[in-house]
Amino acid sequence: MKKALHITSSARGGLSFSRGLSMAIIQKLTDRKEVGVVVERDLVQSPPPLLDEVLIGEFYKQPDSVGEEARHLLAYADAIFSEIDQADVIVISTPMHNLGVSAHLKAWLDQLVRVGLTYKFNEDGTKSGCFKNKKVYLAIASGGKMAFWPEGYEFIESYIKAVFGAYTGITDVTTYRIEGTAMGIADVDYQEILRDL
Ligand SMILES: Cc1cc2nc3c(=O)[nH]c(=O)nc-3n(C[C@H](O)[C@H](O)[C@H](O)COP(=O)(O)O)c2cc1C
Repeated sequence: MKKALHITSSARGGLSFSRGLSMAIIQKLTDRKEVGVVVERDLVQSPPPLLDEVLIGEFYKQPDSVGEEARHLLAYADAIFSEIDQADVIVISTPMHNLGVSAHLKAWLDQLVRVGLTYKFNEDGTKSGCFKNKKVYLAIASGGKMAFWPEGYEFIESYIKAVFGAYTGITDVTTYRIEGTAMGIADVDYQEILRDL
């Protein structure tokens, strides 16, 4: 049975539309028995630590050269690496905040990406991501609608795809959106948004 990792990153708790959408994705996948086990990580309940000088120094060491005294600094990063390593399907939800991902999700990504673990340098200087055969579903909620922005103002899906592709090797990303949440939504029909899932 496949394992899913569900990452939520809205500070609006039960009111969150992005969380509602990612929960509906998880529900659909479990109903169809495509996933059997779901690991939850709420990035607002347990916020990722922000980077500092010491931690950045440890991140740029190859994993086998990290000393015992530094291991506790990497506890969060090690935990989220292991969660993603063990997951077949990763469902991530984020609010649109000032056109980008939530600060919590950005901080999670900054803890996830690690040389020697999520990506490696090849002899010719290019990089290769280390994960294979993982599927990402991305659920984005925005107060306005994408159609209101000029062309080229999509920064969330493109950013997630770029980071995952370059630094983890995960390239299979499918995005669902709930738009116009600040414009008054009476009844949210998540199933309609997910009709092609
Ligand atoms: C700090 C902040 C910044 C926001 N920036 C944008 C934005 O740039 N574009 C937009 O359409 N909505 C923006 N919104 C509205 C949210 O995207 C909207 O409330 C969405 O439903 C949030 O997702 P959630 O319901 O999962 O929390 C912003 C809201 C907040 C609190």
